Amino acid sequence: MSDRKLKNILVTGGCGFIGSNFINYMFGQSATGSREFMDSGFDGRIVNVDCLTYAGNPDNLSGVQKAFGGTRYFFEKADICDRSAIERIFKQYDIDTVIHFAAESHVDRSILGPEAFIKTNIMGTYTLLDVARKFWNVSLDNQRDDVLFHHISTDEVYGSLGETGYFTETTPYDPRSPYSASKASSDHIVMAYYHTYGLPITLSNCTNNYGPYQFPEKLIPLMILNMQEGKNLPVYGEGKNIRDWIYVEDHNRAVWQIVKDGITGQKYNIGGENEWQNIKLLDKLIELTAKEAGLNADDVRKTIVHVKDRPGHDARYAIDCAKIKKELGWERKMTFEEGLTLTVKWYLSHKEWIERVQSGEYLKWIDSNYAGRK
Ligand code: NAD
Ligand code: TYD
Repeated sequence: MSDRKLKNILVTGGCGFIGSNFINYMFGQSATGSREFMDSGFDGRIVNVDCLTYAGNPDNLSGVQKAFGGTRYFFEKADICDRSAIERIFKQYDIDTVIHFAAESHVDRSILGPEAFIKTNIMGTYTLLDVARKFWNVSLDNQRDDVLFHHISTDEVYGSLGETGYFTETTPYDPRSPYSASKASSDHIVMAYYHTYGLPITLSNCTNNYGPYQFPEKLIPLMILNMQEGKNLPVYGEGKNIRDWIYVEDHNRAVWQIVKDGITGQKYNIGGENEWQNIKLLDKLIELTAKEAGLNADDVRKTIVHVKDRPGHDARYAIDCAKIKKELGWERKMTFEEGLTLTVKWYLSHKEWIERVQSGEYLKWIDSNYAGRK
């Protein structure tokens, strides 16, 4: 047991995919009804800071807002790069813990326009770290164990694996895309604040998440919706790239466990131990979606189109998560079959959410960048 207060938690990016699932989890609200995951035991307050980019949607938290808004849950629309807004929020809510999800998160977007990634992922993380350091008045001579800054990162910072081997916490960083380079940079700055200024931090690097509320630009929701709408299924290159998939609630339980009991200054890898070649995953997804949506799987398979490969496309990601299992007793609970089925059902039954996120800015972006691919 740590001495952390964990009373007034600042969650950044809480309107995005993982962040909104995290806040729902903390307040016992399950998007998919998988109640066995709702055991956070949290009894404090959460302040959600999100500037609502195309990927942020406050509706993801309507249940939490209704039940806890103004008492234990507060939403602040602000940019993490806006130092004065972040300073004001730290003071107003007497923040003792930061759980930092906010980021530009999509690799393809980072290839088309890296600037927002550099700003949010690097400058935004720096701004939060620096405000936390000053607000908590920490230094190497004045270390504190009652406050914590937890940084959420990705396995993509480690680069690309060959056919064998796993990323461990000591694998050297070797990012390839503007997204992973900006996340790698933010990880280094977080560690620098620990070593140089004594800021109490923990850091986690996770594999590919899937589940409800993921913006339909990422592989799994994009494919489910394209199938439902009768559109082509664009596979980059041969589709042989491998990703390790984890259900979002398993990731979020791990994050909460690290925040509660992780050792200050340490990083933890989180993985699903669930590697899939993209093309094989798509086959599985076609089988499940066709069944749930009443489609003919063989007809759907005919809509697979191999499109131009992503530049610098990492071949394989796979995480060794022995450390968090051994030291914190964390374990993945969701099987892929069950998690994917819940996810497919969720996307097929949330038409209104999908229409909203697919309108406006998103559609304009897709039209201008991806029209030729579909
Ligand atoms: P997302 O794109 O769905 O959500 C990001 C959220 O951050 C959005 O609500 C957005 O409005 C907000 N945001 C963006 N820029 C902001 C800014 N400048 N100020 C305030 N808010 C801002 O992303 P996600 O998939 O939920 O990822 C969350 C975190 O988890 C990221 O740090 C990402 O790098 C990391 N991660 C994601 C995955 C994955 O598979 N999605 C895997 C490992 C790690
Ligand atoms: P993605 O969901 O974008 O996650 P990441 O790039 O962060 O791993 O993509 C997952 C894999 O699927 C990746 O290898 C790229 C591939 N992919 C496609 O083949 N087609 C698509 O339309 C998308 C979005 C991704």
